Amino acid sequence: MNDPRPIGIFDSGVGGTSIWKEIHQLLPNEKTIYLSDSKNAPYGIKTQEEIIGLSIKNTEKLLAMNCKIIVVACNTATTNAIKVLRSSYKVPFIGIEPAIKPAALKSTNKAIGILATRGTLTSELFTQTSEIYARDINVIEVEGNGLVELIESGKKDSEEAETLVKQLLKPMLSAEIDYLVLGCSHYPYLIPLLKKILPENVKIIDSGEAVARQTKAILQENGLLNTNEGNYQIPEFYSNIDPEVLSGIISAKENNYKVSRLDF
Ligand code: SIN
Repeated sequence: MNDPRPIGIFDSGVGGTSIWKEIHQLLPNEKTIYLSDSKNAPYGIKTQEEIIGLSIKNTEKLLAMNCKIIVVACNTATTNAIKVLRSSYKVPFIGIEPAIKPAALKSTNKAIGILATRGTLTSELFTQTSEIYARDINVIEVEGNGLVELIESGKKDSEEAETLVKQLLKPMLSAEIDYLVLGCSHYPYLIPLLKKILPENVKIIDSGEAVARQTKAILQENGLLNTNEGNYQIPEFYSNIDPEVLSGIISAKENNYKVSRLDF
């Protein structure tokens, strides 16, 4: 079975491109369409009702573009809206959740840090996962307030970002964590900065690879893979604000990716 329809991916902004990269690498034969809802970023400080409304809006846009599967490349949207999306539409949905389970299992210090948005940390899904897998672990939860805004405005490598990250990591360093879980798809863009600040023994975990593997598995299970070998199609990216930061973060010019502004 060969299904040439695109994989749809959405995020509150440019951060979900960290997930898109993993999907594109694992499934180079698949056409991908990415929606960056930067106009409404950050989602992490919005109410659940608002997050559900925005997730529905993005889903409708991707379905109108004939997508065969939707990847919710945003932790906040996954933890707050994926249940509603799955019960409202027929297409499969892949979500992204903080990788608390592998971090809790591997931690020798029995202390892990979770950096995520308020929306993710206060969600029922996150609380349940934490209770199941990290009951005997010291979990230091920190809201990454301000980080999404800095990344969305192209300031991920700025002094301002370094000062903020140092401040946010303080309670984690005091608790001597040995794993840091990145619970927001924007944060992988801070890995170089995080590595500069964290002691060498602290490992950083994000969920990008796992999401790509899960996407492939679900496409396979549902007979939705594009099996036309060598049928590369240029990935499409859409932003509802000026797409300059989006273009920069994926090196669109160098890679010949199609980036456009679109109202949605
Ligand atoms: C946000 O929009 O606040 C962050 C997105 C995420 O949680 O991955």
